[in-house]
Amino acid sequence: MLEGKRLLVTGVITEQSIAYSVARLAQQHGARIVLTGFGRLSLVERIAKRLPDPPPVIELDVTNQEHLAALADNVRPHLDGLDGVVHSIAFAPQGAIGGGFLDASWEDVATAVHVSTYSYKALAMAVLPMLGQGSGLVGLTFDATLAWPVYDWMGVAKAGLESTSRYLARYLGPKGIRSNLVSAGPLRTMAARSIPGFEQFEDEWTKRAPLGWQLADPEPAARACLALLSDWFPATTGEIVHVDGGYHAVGS
Ligand SMILES: NC(=O)c1ccc[n+]([C@@H]2O[C@H](COP(=O)([O-])OP(=O)(O)OC[C@H]3O[C@@H](n4cnc5c(N)ncnc54)[C@H](O)[C@@H]3O)[C@@H](O)[C@H]2O)c1
Repeated sequence: MLEGKRLLVTGVITEQSIAYSVARLAQQHGARIVLTGFGRLSLVERIAKRLPDPPPVIELDVTNQEHLAALADNVRPHLDGLDGVVHSIAFAPQGAIGGGFLDASWEDVATAVHVSTYSYKALAMAVLPMLGQGSGLVGLTFDATLAWPVYDWMGVAKAGLESTSRYLARYLGPKGIRSNLVSAGPLRTMAARSIPGFEQFEDEWTKRAPLGWQLADPEPAARACLALLSDWFPATTGEIVHVDGGYHAVGS
């Protein structure tokens, strides 16, 4: 499905990362990939070695202007262009999540929005010269149409991400570049575990989702990311595909 595709995958930090499943499946389906890693690069490199064909890892803090400016030049020695980019990045300081919505400081909220929302546009622009007709961007959201318990300002950041994706669809569509999001149900990753009280979604989700829901299996979300980057969604952009067992579609 992805034979010959050249993909940049951000967001691998553990084997549970959604991005790790994306990277593994992408390679299994014929893509060549480059990873970016944030902070603990040696850890990301160690995890990357567990992939079928260990890919290069480039350092990228999406809030670091120098990293962004150098990104395309750092990817080029490995891939001569990009057919797809996966944004699998989110972070919010503890003050912005976990039930303290009303007391969160602007500094904490600004960090959440910088890393989780603005970064989607920043990443797209950093690699724009490498993207051609028919390429695509994919990001990960958690349904931002509702106010969830404890998700707080990350929910606001995700609402912004969903809007950012629509604007990228608008501005990059004329260049033949698509932007879509996958709205995943709760998954037990490092990012999810850092949200105090996130486990309260878990029982509710597995009970209510008509298809049921596997909290420890990021593969369905990863598959959707790759499907959106394949040639099978050529006329789809600004879209949000739910990979949540159908939870969003049913009442309690
Ligand atoms: N786990 C869930 O329940 C769930 C549900 C829906 C959507 N998502 C989204 O999926 C995406 C991936 O998260 P995950 O659940 O795989 O968790 P994860 O902890 O494995 O991945 C989050 C990644 O963000 C990276 N990151 C944080 N700050 C960064 C920065 N400044 N620059 C670059 N990278 C940075 C981390 O290094 C990490 O690799 C996130 O956007 C998350 O919001 C997760």
